[in-house]
Amino acid sequence: MTSQSDNFTGKLIPVYLSLICSLQRVSKHRCLVRLNHSPTTYDTINPLHSDLSGKVILVTGASRGIGRAISIAYAQAGASGLALLARNRAGLIETRTACMKAQRHGSDKNFQVLLLEVGITSTEAVASALKEVETKFKRLDIVVNNAGQFQGHQNNIGDMDPGSWWNIWTVNVNGLFNVTRAALPLLLDGLRIIVNMTSITAHLITGGFSDYETSKLAILRLSQFIAAEYGDQGVLCYAIHPGTILTDMPAQIPKNGGRNSTLTWRIP
Ligand SMILES: NC(=O)c1ccc[n+]([C@@H]2O[C@H](COP(=O)([O-])OP(=O)(O)OC[C@H]3O[C@@H](n4cnc5c(N)ncnc54)[C@H](OP(=O)(O)O)[C@@H]3O)[C@@H](O)[C@H]2O)c1
Repeated sequence: MTSQSDNFTGKLIPVYLSLICSLQRVSKHRCLVRLNHSPTTYDTINPLHSDLSGKVILVTGASRGIGRAISIAYAQAGASGLALLARNRAGLIETRTACMKAQRHGSDKNFQVLLLEVGITSTEAVASALKEVETKFKRLDIVVNNAGQFQGHQNNIGDMDPGSWWNIWTVNVNGLFNVTRAALPLLLDGLRIIVNMTSITAHLITGGFSDYETSKLAILRLSQFIAAEYGDQGVLCYAIHPGTILTDMPAQIPKNGGRNSTLTWRIP
């Protein structure tokens, strides 16, 4: 029998370690800004030290970037099942191949990967994707709400295209809501961990990025709501800022010219 704090630690550590590990792998060669962190994964947080055998993890935005790295880390951590969700099939297949190579189980039958070619803005498509997860794995332990969008434009609110502005919220906030809502029934019978990818920009005001930065702030509050509403059922919800990592996302920021091109953040 384990105490409440043992349960807490047992749940927290594998996820945290796998995530941090995976993020550091992405940033190893491609760091956008100078950060005070180790360029390589260090032993304490190596996913090989975790044992997630028997566990099933859903990662959204798994077709590239941080989501791919997280998926690989979970494969290394010994997860038995991965549900990889994104819209781009070719990207998902690449991630699956990388996970199969990285997975620690000796044979494929102990490790299964389900590809979910789905856009998270569709409530129906997300619900049916979660049904697929249930049919294939019969369980779900961890949901990583990593999928997100950002636009490299730098317009003040008055110059923003309304559709583009709202699209960022539709993906980042409503998409995360859709996935969480559909996953909760299955998740409540598993390890009950939700990891939401936010950003340091949730705390910043960078002129021109009101769509993205407000959406990431909303994710912080949504994470608190998940914890408040489901904490007594054992759900642990974390909002994680991954650091600045040169994936396709920040690569959209113009290198030269543009008032935000050097990521100079202004806090009033
Ligand atoms: N990179 C950074 O420096 C940084 C910093 C802070 C926070 N973050 C956050 O970290 C997360 C991952 O970022 P990243 O850098 O890896 O970005 P990325 O390389 O642009 O990847 C974004 C992922 O989200 C998926 N996605 C986008 N729209 C989607 C939709 N409507 N439905 C389903 N999937 C969708 C994309 O897949 P498809 O296009 O195939 O659908 C892709 O797999 C994001 O939430 C981002 O805001 C990143």
